[in-house]
Amino acid sequence: MTPIAANDIRLMERAGQLAARTLTHVGKYVKAGITTNELDKIAADFVRSHGATSAPLGYHGFPKSICTSVNYCICHGVPDDKPLKDGDVVNVDVTVIKDEYHGDTSAMYFVGEVSKEAKDICEAAQGAMDKGIDEVKPGATTGDIGFAINKYVTKRGYWIVKEIGGHGIGKIFHDDPWVPSYGKKGKGEELIPWICLTVEPMINKTAAPIKEFSIAKSSIKYYETGDKTLSAQYEHTILVTDRGHEILTLRD
Ligand code: MF3
Ligand code: CO
Ligand code: CO
Repeated sequence: MTPIAANDIRLMERAGQLAARTLTHVGKYVKAGITTNELDKIAADFVRSHGATSAPLGYHGFPKSICTSVNYCICHGVPDDKPLKDGDVVNVDVTVIKDEYHGDTSAMYFVGEVSKEAKDICEAAQGAMDKGIDEVKPGATTGDIGFAINKYVTKRGYWIVKEIGGHGIGKIFHDDPWVPSYGKKGKGEELIPWICLTVEPMINKTAAPIKEFSIAKSSIKYYETGDKTLSAQYEHTILVTDRGHEILTLRD
C-alpha cells in the first residue's frame, strides 16, 4: 500500500486508460464462433502495439495475456480453442503494464442473444462494483467497500465470492490491501490518498461452494461455481485522491 509518487500519477492514469481501451477493442470481437485464444491474441497484439505488455502472460506461470471466464467460470479462465456460442456470457479481464504501472479491468460480454437470467446477474455484478467504488475515499476502509458490495448483492438474491477479491495495484500487480466483497463498516484497512486499488466483485447465482482448478505449469488457480450455475464479475482500477476517488479504467 504505497502511495503513487505525485509525478507518477499520470503514468498510472495512462496504464488505466490503455487497459480500458484494450478491453473495448477486444469486446468488439466477442461473437459466436470466435475462440478465446483468438481474443487473447487480439488483446496481446493491441497491448504490444501501444508500447505496453500484458501482465498476466508469465505471471506465476500463467500462460496467456488475458483471462476469459465463460458462464460458470468465476475467474482466471484460460483462453483456449473452444469457440464461443450463442447465449454465452464471458468475462474478459485485461491487465497491462505501461511504463512500469499496471491497469486492471474486466467486464462481461454477451455472445448473441443471452437469457434474462444471464443479463440480470451481469447487471447485478456491475451494480455491485459501482456500490463498492462509491465507498472509495480517504479514511474509508476495505470493510466499507465489502459491506456495500455484499449488501447490494444479497438484496438481489445473489451470493458474493468470498475467496477472491480486489487488491492494491501500482508497480505491483497484486499489492495490499486485499479488497474482499464482504466486510464490516469501519473494519479492514484504511484507505489513504494516492494509493490505487481494484474493486472487482464476483457474484454467483447460488451458494454452492466454489471449485478450484490447477493451471498447467502455473501456481495461479482458476475457479468455477460448484454447481455450474452462472457467475459474473466487473472490475475497475481506482485511484484514491485527496478527497475521493478517480476511476482510472473508464471506457467511452
Ligand atoms: N486480472 C486478474 C485480477 O483482476 C488477475 C489475473 S492473474 C492471472 O486480479 F495470472 F490469472 F492472469
Ligand atoms: Co484485479
Ligand atoms: Co483483472
